[in-house]
Amino acid sequence: MTRAAEFWDSAYDNDTAPWVIGEPQPAIVGLEQAGWIRGRVLDPGAGAGEHTIALTRLGYDVRGVDLSPSAVEHARRNAVEQGVAGARFDVVDALRLSEAAVLAEKDGGTVEFDTIVDSALFHVFGDAPEARAEYVRSLAAVCAPGGRVHVLALSDREAGFGPRISDSVIRESFGEGWELEDLQPARYRGRVTPGVAEAAAAMEQHDGRVDVVAWLARIRRI
Ligand SMILES: C[S@@+](CC[C@H](N)C(=O)[O-])C[C@H]1O[C@@H](n2cnc3c(N)ncnc32)[C@H](O)[C@@H]1O
Repeated sequence: MTRAAEFWDSAYDNDTAPWVIGEPQPAIVGLEQAGWIRGRVLDPGAGAGEHTIALTRLGYDVRGVDLSPSAVEHARRNAVEQGVAGARFDVVDALRLSEAAVLAEKDGGTVEFDTIVDSALFHVFGDAPEARAEYVRSLAAVCAPGGRVHVLALSDREAGFGPRISDSVIRESFGEGWELEDLQPARYRGRVTPGVAEAAAAMEQHDGRVDVVAWLARIRRI
């Protein structure tokens, strides 16, 4: 299901988002350590901004975008609090990346990204095939040839919470114009908020955090 910005705004405004964990996802940190982040980087659905902040701090050229004005406000504040005031965030619909004036080149051309790090956005469109196709077309329009999209998405292989998807949804979504290079089971770290407490009760918890089952996919733009 696709949701309006107000739905996401309320999660940030009321501090109820289980994905706001105050640190980058370990799986994304691992990608960087393995050398998979290069060139211009896009963080669609940037949320609280942890990945854009962490990568900016390491010297990468990163743009964090989110549909939710509250998320962008939260991320900008978070960046300042973490001493990474140079982290850039803008309100942009990831379904229309090539139309975003804030991402356009100075000459009006569309910017191309070499690395796109999708942490828990793709799965939001998991049960909405049209939105998913629109999202993949939107990514294709701004991903440089040879560039890579990394998708960290909640998996339906175990009980959990949030929009969980099967690996076939990822495989089928990135067809012509893409090469699926790798798809592995992974973990997505969440915090146990009241809204997910019941679902998380049976899971192993550490300091109010749970590592739920996920997929990590690496997809190359041909
Ligand atoms: C589950 S959160 C993940 C946030 C962050 N990437 C993380 O892993 O912590 C999904 C984020 O995607 C944003 N989002 C939802 N639909 C979007 C869209 N069409 N375009 C851009 N961002 C969107 C939401 O506002 C939310 O911040």
